[in-house]
Amino acid sequence: MSRVRLDRLLSNLGYCSRREVALCLREGWVRAIDGRPLRPDSAVEHGEILFDDQPLDPPQGLLLMLHKPVGYTCSSKDPGRIVYDLFPDRFRSRSPVLATVGRLDRETSGLLLLTDDGQLLHRIISPRSHLPKVYEAELAEPLRGHEAALFASGELLLDGESSPLLPAELQVLSPQSVRLTLHEGRYHQVRRMFAATGNHVTALHRSQIGGLALDGLAAGQWCALSGEAQAALWLRAS
Ligand code: URA
Repeated sequence: MSRVRLDRLLSNLGYCSRREVALCLREGWVRAIDGRPLRPDSAVEHGEILFDDQPLDPPQGLLLMLHKPVGYTCSSKDPGRIVYDLFPDRFRSRSPVLATVGRLDRETSGLLLLTDDGQLLHRIISPRSHLPKVYEAELAEPLRGHEAALFASGELLLDGESSPLLPAELQVLSPQSVRLTLHEGRYHQVRRMFAATGNHVTALHRSQIGGLALDGLAAGQWCALSGEAQAALWLRAS
């Protein structure tokens, strides 16, 4: 890990502005694990520093998995509840910024990724990645029986679009609940697919992206993904 100026490190992680670092040092909020004296311009390594006696948040290159609850939007500007409310306030001041990897609707729950790595974000959302996304949906009406073949056909054209959807796999769990695996991510795709069959999605949850699943993470909880977990994301890419 390379050395950086302490004031830069703390402001990039959103703990305080560069000017406030002197105050944090005077108050004893920031210290080096080995006890050596620090100044705002000290060259430090991320792992040597404690803030409020806690190790610092992970450095740049972060990939977070959130179990998004229903009722939160993925925008950073919405006046209602937003997914950023579920993280420490300082995460909003990180540089580079933490962005959601694609979006889930306000009324959809489940696995949402956030990252500050623009290249990784584009790699995950790129249609070329073919990363499968698995959704569980509850339906207002019983299935009619033609849905699996229609979704698998690669010929379904949604209203207002000029190219048909990629083939998607439908697994019937009960007459009014399904598991659907998509290989792309269009606007409100699952809801619009069922609308095209004359049905209506009453509840929607994303359980998996690539080889990553929520694995018991409760609604509203999040975790930082290690390199190993990040590798699992790509396990099911074709
Ligand atoms: N499809 C939808 O309709 N909504 C989502 O949030 C995700 C996929």
